[in-house]
Amino acid sequence: KFMAKFYITTPIYYVNDIPHLGHAYTTIAADILARYYRMKGEKVFFLTGTDEHGAKVAESAQKANKTPKEWCDEMSARFQLAWDILNISYNNFIRTTDKNHESAVKKAVQRLYEKKFIVKGKYQGLYCVGCERYYTEKELVNGKCPHHQKPLQLYSEDCYLLRLSIFQRPLLQLIQDGTLIIEPSVRKNEIISFLTKEKLEDISISRQKVKWGIKLPWNKTQTLYVWIDALLNYLTGIGWKGDKEVPDFWPADLHLMAKDILRMHAVIWPALLLALEIPLPKKIFAHGFFTINGEKMSKSLGNVLDPIEQAKNFSSDGLRWLLISSFPFSVDGDISLEKFYEKYNAELANGIGNLVARVLTLATKNQNLKFKIQNDNLEFKIQIKKVYENYEKALEKLAFDEATRKILEFVAFCDKYINENEPWKLIKTNLDQFKKVIYNLLEALRQIAWLIQPFMPETADKIFNQLGILSIEKKKNLEEAKRWGIPQFDSIKKGESLFPRM
Ligand code: ME8
Ligand code: MG
Repeated sequence: KFMAKFYITTPIYYVNDIPHLGHAYTTIAADILARYYRMKGEKVFFLTGTDEHGAKVAESAQKANKTPKEWCDEMSARFQLAWDILNISYNNFIRTTDKNHESAVKKAVQRLYEKKFIVKGKYQGLYCVGCERYYTEKELVNGKCPHHQKPLQLYSEDCYLLRLSIFQRPLLQLIQDGTLIIEPSVRKNEIISFLTKEKLEDISISRQKVKWGIKLPWNKTQTLYVWIDALLNYLTGIGWKGDKEVPDFWPADLHLMAKDILRMHAVIWPALLLALEIPLPKKIFAHGFFTINGEKMSKSLGNVLDPIEQAKNFSSDGLRWLLISSFPFSVDGDISLEKFYEKYNAELANGIGNLVARVLTLATKNQNLKFKIQNDNLEFKIQIKKVYENYEKALEKLAFDEATRKILEFVAFCDKYINENEPWKLIKTNLDQFKKVIYNLLEALRQIAWLIQPFMPETADKIFNQLGILSIEKKKNLEEAKRWGIPQFDSIKKGESLFPRM
């Protein structure tokens, strides 16, 4: 049987940093999509990991009195812990110090060298140790690194060059004709304008100064530029050995990242793939950057939010929901803990949590009633169909905030239904009607659990559990789940409050 596949990646994060809410943002977004496509029955591979080579890593290890590998082991484990706490359902966590990654990368660059896509050169340039990259004069801000606001170092060294310049026209063509999709469109236009207006230079892809890195197989005095090493993770992470043959999951359906590293992914990465004669990824999506209370998240400002701490605060599901729905995915936004508290109470405590508690309280009022009537309620059927249509449309275009709003609108619809039907009166006056109303509400809760599942997997399971249908629902895919009025609710049990008010 044919099964659609979905291969999604996040960037591999610099191992030298402690995971923060920015890393969590992209990773949660990717996890929501991975869970959504799995829910639809597709074969999903979700890759994330850590980027572990470079001068900065070696420097930090030395300061900590550790070998670089020991340092990487420790730091990488922090990401894995954070992602465990946030229920990130990755299929592989790749580390660029993995032996199979290193050997595949060596094989690939050797091939590029033999095919003369990599040639000997000299490089002199302004290098930022923090970014692990050279900057051109044009990119500097007040003569300093635009990201670190620090002066750059003038490096001059023997090196090897990747002949990026020969790919300028083919890249432009492939992006313009949509073979390689870049979204949102503002980002696509940025890349097109860059490839149209500026001359693509060959880039240095090795250096002598950096010791902690993958050695070039034909010249062991040189280590490979971290970005080449890092980008190849998208292939090695699914089992690529470095040759022409690519694993089944390739090409990637979606590379997710923020706009800060789009150019690396939209120019260098496809050029590398063209040189290796490997198909290009289908889509690159560069989301926005968020600030906190209007300020850039930074160590020096002391406003860096720790995802582990915030997951303790709001629960893992709560944090996932709040972070991903605070502002539209494709643009920049601002977040704050104050807004998170407000949103938590409005949408989760008083919204979803309250509806579940309200319905289960009503439904368990008369313990003798079993809700077996299968119900063809037209009003609900029409409503839920519309909700799913809008919700899926939103998720397909990565409009997470829109998808959550559609869920909340359905929650409000259910609240209104309760108020209009007054089941607390019906239980005394019309038991048949009471049972019908409660059945509709239980069935609505089941649908809500399905809708929130990619966003809040623990909460979805708690709702299924209260409805007494967890194991049955786990066997369904979304198409089966959508059908209104099939389940019987004969073992409901009220549980603890899903989102206690804060
Ligand atoms: O660049 N808002 O890793 P990195 C939104 N190792 N997203 C944010 C964010 C913010 N304020 N801050 C960080 C690297 N991010 C390389 C990648 S890939 C082959 C190599 C997220 O640790 C966002 O996804 O600096 C951004 O692109 C990424 O963290 C950068 O992670
Ligand atoms: Mg960065």
